[in-house]
Amino acid sequence: MKALQFTAYGDPEVLRWVEAPEPHAGPGQIRVAVRSASVNPIDWKVLSGALAGGEPLAGPRYLGFDAAGVVDEVGDQVVGVSVGDEVFGRGASTQAEYAVLDSWALKPPSVDWALAAAAGVAGETAERGLRLLGVSAGDTLFIDGGAGGVGAVAVQMALARGATVIASAGQANHDYLREIGATPVLYGDGVAARVQAAAGGKVQAVFDVAGRTSIEELISVAPEPSQVLSIANFSAAQAGARVTGGGDDSRPMEALAQVAELLEQNKLVIKVQTFPFDRAAEAYRISQSGHLRGKLVLVP
Ligand SMILES: NC(=O)c1ccc[n+]([C@@H]2O[C@H](COP(=O)([O-])OP(=O)(O)OC[C@H]3O[C@@H](n4cnc5c(N)ncnc54)[C@H](OP(=O)(O)O)[C@@H]3O)[C@@H](O)[C@H]2O)c1
Repeated sequence: MKALQFTAYGDPEVLRWVEAPEPHAGPGQIRVAVRSASVNPIDWKVLSGALAGGEPLAGPRYLGFDAAGVVDEVGDQVVGVSVGDEVFGRGASTQAEYAVLDSWALKPPSVDWALAAAAGVAGETAERGLRLLGVSAGDTLFIDGGAGGVGAVAVQMALARGATVIASAGQANHDYLREIGATPVLYGDGVAARVQAAAGGKVQAVFDVAGRTSIEELISVAPEPSQVLSIANFSAAQAGARVTGGGDDSRPMEALAQVAELLEQNKLVIKVQTFPFDRAAEAYRISQSGHLRGKLVLVP
């Protein structure tokens, strides 16, 4: 099979779409013939070597953390899914012709492949954030970075819970935020004042999905520091905010089931830009720019 591979840390130009060993489903896993896999910032962070702790690369490495595809192997202890089912979910080395998933949901037939892949990592992360913040009907939530992958999904999941959402973006993405149901505010200097003006006071919770605004400024619009949760500013805890990187916080199968339901009900739409696998470097470059509207998805 072919897979997106790199043999030296670096910029997206080092990526190659080349022959690679086929993976197989272990216990609790499934394998899919991949129809689409999204690009997440973690991909280019791994590729750059920034997460390697100074260790050199030991052999070829592969990328991708979510995919949608057709099940072609079912591991031991897996129930409720069969060869031939169309699914989407999270895994490792998913930017390939075949990939192993650790968590998944059935893809609603009305949902296209690219949208399904786009909803994997972003959907799980959004569900986790809203659950940890306890966002429920009647709350007003501020999402800092609402137009990107995680942000756009979090906006719509929060609306589906009955919350009101204020979200930040660059000016070019304000119409997109309105389209998906959020009140837009411009990020950058003075964002806390703009949020309070839009909310008529403080909000019940702040979901920092960009990690770009000072945590003190975000805390100033929340009822208490612990009602600010960041997925991208890992020093936020020093100021009393919360940080989540997944792990024990994560309930991926439940999250993906919720995402599938919202997709089926047309309550979750994501602007998707697709690229063939052998042009992955272009998608990685756009992701690295940090100014996303929705998701970038690789397709065969
Ligand atoms: N901890 C976890 O479990 C976890 C899980 C998934 C992702 N992440 C991390 O979360 C971050 C976001 O991921 P993503 O997939 O949503 O990224 P993304 O799709 O690249 O979106 C990034 C967003 O950040 C916005 N942004 C840029 N500058 C900003 C600023 N100064 N203030 C506020 N927002 C700003 C951009 O808005 P404009 O386009 O309007 O400029 C863009 O929509 C990444 O760092 C990623 O690695 C963490």
